[in-house]
Amino acid sequence: MSYGIKARVLRSVASIAMIAALGSPAIADELFYVSGAVGRAVENFPALVKPWEDATGHTVTMVPMPASTSDQFGQYRLWLAAGTSDIDLFQTDVIWAPQLADHFVDLTEAAKDIAPKHFPSIIESQTVGGKLVALPIFTDAPALYYRRDLLEKYGVAVPKTWAEMTTAAQTIQDGERAEGKAEFWGFVWQGNAYEGLTCNALEWVKSHGGGQVVEPDGTISINNPNAIAALEQAKTWVDTISPGGVLAYQEEEARGVWQTGNAAFMRNWPYAYGLGNGDDSAVKGLFEVTTLPTGGDNPTSAATLGGWNVAVSKYSTKQEAAISLALYLADVEAQKQRALMESNLTTIVSLYDDTDIAAAQPIIPQWKDVFLQAVPRPSAPTLGKYNEVSAKFWSAVHATLSGNGSAAENLELLELELTELKGDAW
Ligand code: GLC
Repeated sequence: MSYGIKARVLRSVASIAMIAALGSPAIADELFYVSGAVGRAVENFPALVKPWEDATGHTVTMVPMPASTSDQFGQYRLWLAAGTSDIDLFQTDVIWAPQLADHFVDLTEAAKDIAPKHFPSIIESQTVGGKLVALPIFTDAPALYYRRDLLEKYGVAVPKTWAEMTTAAQTIQDGERAEGKAEFWGFVWQGNAYEGLTCNALEWVKSHGGGQVVEPDGTISINNPNAIAALEQAKTWVDTISPGGVLAYQEEEARGVWQTGNAAFMRNWPYAYGLGNGDDSAVKGLFEVTTLPTGGDNPTSAATLGGWNVAVSKYSTKQEAAISLALYLADVEAQKQRALMESNLTTIVSLYDDTDIAAAQPIIPQWKDVFLQAVPRPSAPTLGKYNEVSAKFWSAVHATLSGNGSAAENLELLELELTELKGDAW
C-alpha cells in the first residue's frame, strides 16, 4: 500500500490533539478506504471527509486503486476472499452487490434514517436477500458531450441518431484536419476490453432495440439482428471518426482527448462535465451535453446505469467508526459536496432541487430523468455470475471492433458461451 508514513504520523498526532480537545471518542481509529482513482476523486477526498474527521476524531486514508472497475473488482475479491482487515471500507460499483454481499456488514439498521432520503431503486440495487450491503454515494448515467462551437461552425444540428452522429463527427473531423489539426477526432468513447465497454456496447445494442444482453427474467437475448447491426455500426467508427487507439481507451483516455480540444463528441459519465469546465480545460464553456443517440429505427436512446457505493468490510476491526463514515459519505452534506466538486449525480432526492448544485453543475438537475430511466446491466438476473457474463460480452464486442470475426459470428458464439455458463439457472 502506498501511503506516506510521515503523513500518517502527523495525522495521528493531530487527531490525538483533537480528541483531547473534544473529550471523545475514547479511541481514535485510523480507517482505510479503498477506491478507484478517476477524475479528481483522490485529490478531493481529504476535503470531503474533513468534517467527519473533525466531528469524530477518527481519521481516514484513501488507498487509491487503478481506474478500471474490472481491475478493482479483481483486487477486492482477492482481499475479501483472504479476509483482510487492512481495509475498512470499500467503494463499490453498482453492479457488485450480489457478488460481494457476503463480505460486507448489513447496514439496514444503521442506515434506517438516511435510506429514505435516497431514490428507492438505488437502495434496492444495493440490497441482496434483505441485506443492505452498501450505501450509495453517487449514481451515474452517461451523456453525449458535444462541442457547441464546432457544431455551429460547421452548421451541424445536435445529432439524434447514431447515424447522424457519425456523419456530424466525420464532417467536423474533416474540417478541423483541413485546418491543420492533425490530432482531431470525431468521436471518443471507451473501447478497452473491460466493464466500460460493456456499458458502451449495452447502450448501442439497447438503443437499436436489441435488448439488454440478458433480460431481467434471465433470458439470454444478445444474439439478434438489432444487436448485430449496433455492433457493426460501432465497428465502422474505429479508425475513421475514432482513433484506432480507442480500443484501449477507458474513461480517462477519452476525457484526455476531449479536454485538450481534440474531439467533436465524447461518450462519458457526468464526472467529465465539471472537469471539462475547469480552468485548465481547453473546452471550458465550449460544450454541452445531450442524451446518447438512438439506433436504427428504434425511437429510444439508452444510458447504462452506473454508480458507486460504500461498503463496510466484515473483516474490519474498526466497524463502528467505519459505519459512521459510510453513513456520512452517503448523507446530504457529503453528497452535496461531491456534486459540487466532482459533478457526480447525487442519489438523494432532495438535492435535485438544490439551487447551489443547479448553479454550479447544471448537468445534475438536467440528468435526473436520464438516470431514472437508465438501463441496468444484467447483474441482478445473473447473480454471482455477472462478472463472467460481462467479461464474455465485452470480449465478443472487442473482437468485433478489432475485426476479429463479424458481429453475427461473435454474438452467436457469445450466446453459446452464456448458455453454457447459465446451465440450468443463473
Ligand atoms: C463508471 C460507472 C460504473 C461503471 C464504470 C465502467 O464508473 O459509475 O458503474 O461500471 O464506469 O467503466
